[in-house]
Amino acid sequence: QAGVFTYDPGFTSTASCDSTITFIDGDKGELLHRGYPIDQLASKSNYLEVCYLLLYGELPSAEQMEEFEYLVTHHTMLHEQMVYFFRGFRRDAHPMAIMVGVVGAMAAFYHDSTDIADSHQREVASIRLIAKMPTIAAWAYKYSVGQPFVYPRNDLTYAENFLNMCFSVPAEEYKVNPILARAMDRIFTLHADHEQNASTSTVRLASSSGANPFACIAAGIACLWGPAHGGANQACLEMLREIGTPDRIPEYLARAKDKDDPFRLMGFGHRVYKNFDPRAKVMKESADEVLDLLGVEDNPILQVAKDLEKAALEDDYFVQRKLFPNVDFYSGIILEAMGFPTAMFTPIFALSRTVGWVSQWKEQLADPQLKIGRPRQLYLGETARDYVDIEKR
Ligand code: SDX
Repeated sequence: QAGVFTYDPGFTSTASCDSTITFIDGDKGELLHRGYPIDQLASKSNYLEVCYLLLYGELPSAEQMEEFEYLVTHHTMLHEQMVYFFRGFRRDAHPMAIMVGVVGAMAAFYHDSTDIADSHQREVASIRLIAKMPTIAAWAYKYSVGQPFVYPRNDLTYAENFLNMCFSVPAEEYKVNPILARAMDRIFTLHADHEQNASTSTVRLASSSGANPFACIAAGIACLWGPAHGGANQACLEMLREIGTPDRIPEYLARAKDKDDPFRLMGFGHRVYKNFDPRAKVMKESADEVLDLLGVEDNPILQVAKDLEKAALEDDYFVQRKLFPNVDFYSGIILEAMGFPTAMFTPIFALSRTVGWVSQWKEQLADPQLKIGRPRQLYLGETARDYVDIEKR
């Protein structure tokens, strides 16, 4: 039975959940979404089709895909009143702070999709979240650079729309490069879901109390922000910037091995994968494609990344501990090459993972035994003792 642990004090607790969505074998480096290997999905499918698979459990027919794509495309606009939420932030607000705030605020707008007992409303909330997240992330970016918001277009694919909303400006024509759109769609796909990671567990725990769906997803975004989790891609690029030049790589590799130094190699290692992260393999192919297209010579950060990857993969300390580049290492390189500021890396991860959070939220609510998550603890504190008046302390 999944996750039943017996602690010393003699009580039992189910510390995990049953799920049919994603399977990971960390030792083999295997990742399946509803049984389909991630490398096949990343090379043969696309993000919206993977969204359908995660949400409904099967790959869609052509007709089902057309209907799903129409629904998502026609829910990409935000209620115009929500523009004021963006304008309430300081210009230098981190885009993740804006995403947490705006997604949470959706709970105050879309009342007709917050009754979790109503299956139709759960569907509407799911579609709205998947459809609107690129608009929210893109507008958080535009607000931070002081450019006008660009509205979604129904003639563009999901990834093209996001790139257009981020990089086009009213003053000139912008054409989305198909190689970049493909790489963007692959980044979305490779970050779509990942079993019970910290942010997904946060969403499930919040939804177990029957909380508002938009508030549950906002909680997941908040958790993903941390540098040890979704914030790793931003932390990885900041580390590459700090290293600065290839000749300083040995100094940082030595620091990463030094137990007295809290420094860790951002973008390397994984809590579960004790082999190569299967997503990283596919992401590396995209990184090579994008760097070939955009060139790495004139970007010293990307040169440091290529040299660091090579040095770590040849270093016994990392190889013995199976500390290989993870999905965040390569996605950070691609996003840097595309021209995104590092502050936008985790919002893009959050955008991608929304379908995973929503799928797991729906699965949690479908459990007839829905019990509020209440993990127990192992108490290691003081035993009972009497109060002492301040005069006697
Ligand atoms: C994500 O859970 C998910 O699914 C998350 C995620 C998702 O899709 O949702 O995959 C996304 O969070 C990927 C991970 C992104 N984080 C980073 O890149 C941050 C850098 N990585 C480390 O913080 C670390 O690797 C963790 C937190 C990811 C994992 O840490 P663990 O579980 O402690 O790793 P471990 O037990 O395998 O460590 C084994 C050894 C230890 O040293 P020893 O005690 O054996 O001597 O390797 C060391 C660790 O100290 N180690 C590192 C290291 N990671 C582990 N040393 C240097 N640099 C590192 N990055």
